[in-house]
Amino acid sequence: MKGRASIHRDFSIAQIDDRLYSAFIEHMGRAIYSGIYEPDHPTANANGFRSDVLDLVRALKIPAIRYPGGNFVSAYKWEDGVGPKEDRPVRLDLAWRSKETNQVGINEFARWARDAEIEMMLAVNLGTRGIEEARNFVEYCNHPSGTYWSDLRRSHGVEDPYGVNMWCLGNEMDGPWQIGHMEAKEYGRLADETSKAVKAFGKGIETVVCGSSNDQMPTYPDWERQVLEECYENVDYISLHKYFGNNSRNSLNYFAKVEETGRYIQSIAGVIDYVKAKKRAKNDIYICFDEWNVWYHNREQDSKNWHSWDWPEAPALLEEDYNLEDAIFVGGLLNEFIRRSDRVKIACIAQLVNVIAPIRTERGGKAWATSIYYPYQFASLYGRGTALNVAVDCPRYDEAVAQDVNYLDVAAVLAPDGRSITVFAINRSPDEAMELDLALHGFDDLKLIDHQVMGGDSSLARVANTCAEPNKVTPRKGDRLAVGEGGLKGELPAFSYSMIRLSVG
Ligand code: AHR
Repeated sequence: MKGRASIHRDFSIAQIDDRLYSAFIEHMGRAIYSGIYEPDHPTANANGFRSDVLDLVRALKIPAIRYPGGNFVSAYKWEDGVGPKEDRPVRLDLAWRSKETNQVGINEFARWARDAEIEMMLAVNLGTRGIEEARNFVEYCNHPSGTYWSDLRRSHGVEDPYGVNMWCLGNEMDGPWQIGHMEAKEYGRLADETSKAVKAFGKGIETVVCGSSNDQMPTYPDWERQVLEECYENVDYISLHKYFGNNSRNSLNYFAKVEETGRYIQSIAGVIDYVKAKKRAKNDIYICFDEWNVWYHNREQDSKNWHSWDWPEAPALLEEDYNLEDAIFVGGLLNEFIRRSDRVKIACIAQLVNVIAPIRTERGGKAWATSIYYPYQFASLYGRGTALNVAVDCPRYDEAVAQDVNYLDVAAVLAPDGRSITVFAINRSPDEAMELDLALHGFDDLKLIDHQVMGGDSSLARVANTCAEPNKVTPRKGDRLAVGEGGLKGELPAFSYSMIRLSVG
């Protein structure tokens, strides 16, 4: 099959916000305990954090991380996690039916984030708590000294404030499963008032209001309209969440969920525009897609675990063995975020370690990268700069979730120094290689720097990286593309993801 694409240096979509490649980690399953934190582990540092995991995290160059939840945050008391560890209470976490020991709290997490070179994005509990506790938490984190909460932080050994600028106003408040779930209008009012209180602590603070938990929610997209009508002028982002799966074992339908996500983003962008016009507002609101990932391989087993009444400590939950098909899907979803970077400014892969994650660990044992680690890493390393428009002409297909879907999925990014361009290209066809003809206009002196490929054989779609075999699905150097007159030509293998870097004059 043939695929033509055309890019012009001057036809751009937007300046990509680096935070498009952010992550999320929750007190859930083994994400924190025996994921990032395991004081008895042979690689543990002086603070009890696993160095093997930190190395894998650092290599992703993650700009920001959302913490501490998730559903967990909606009944969380942040005060339980500060002060001497031996005095911290053990609590029941109602969201995941687990025991929370509070051995990691904000100060431990901040130390980890500093070592991982990631900025924190914190969520406040608007389920069982409200403005008062949110206000105290911000003061504890951000105020220098001389007040009750800031001096309490200092008494806990943290002299300098953290200066956290991104605050999430609760989590998935549209979901009946959420502790403290609310009606849209009710939540919009609370979010408005909480946002004002949080922002009162200083210039530069941005807040994220909860949008829909997914685009199948019965309240979607009216939830966004009602919430924004209450708080539009006082918030900066509206969050969206969406998880994906392929229970029908149909790769083309699975890959078409990328298009479905594009429609989701477009619809919410429309709601934002509608409310802005209705309120004659001056400010802009952007999308913060702060939970996205593949989540389906272990659903049955997980629902058994979290419906048990044993209240285990850090049980194995949502530990997915991602395969090649998932890696191609994740590469496609990241392409969609790049193509929508005029409206989506922040996105967080959910989650980072063990729980639906690019990084997995064995308690007391090794850490490894799952298949989705690689497309996420390539996007984070090379997807920064200016998103360029890509016109694509290729055969298309119809599936249940979307029609007229391109077999060729491409996104392109011009580096901030204008000296290189990265093209992320996917051939979705399970059985046909694609003859690619990529025209690059307005660029001189094109040179191929690197081509990394994953896939090439759909019979290996379900091969996964596991603890026993952690390197089954990894990128390899491609050798079938070459720079020619005005662009790039060659072959994209069937069922493959490619990261292609070119230097430009
Ligand atoms: O990431 C797992 C869970 O998915 C989060 O806690 C919640 O926000 C979402 O439903």
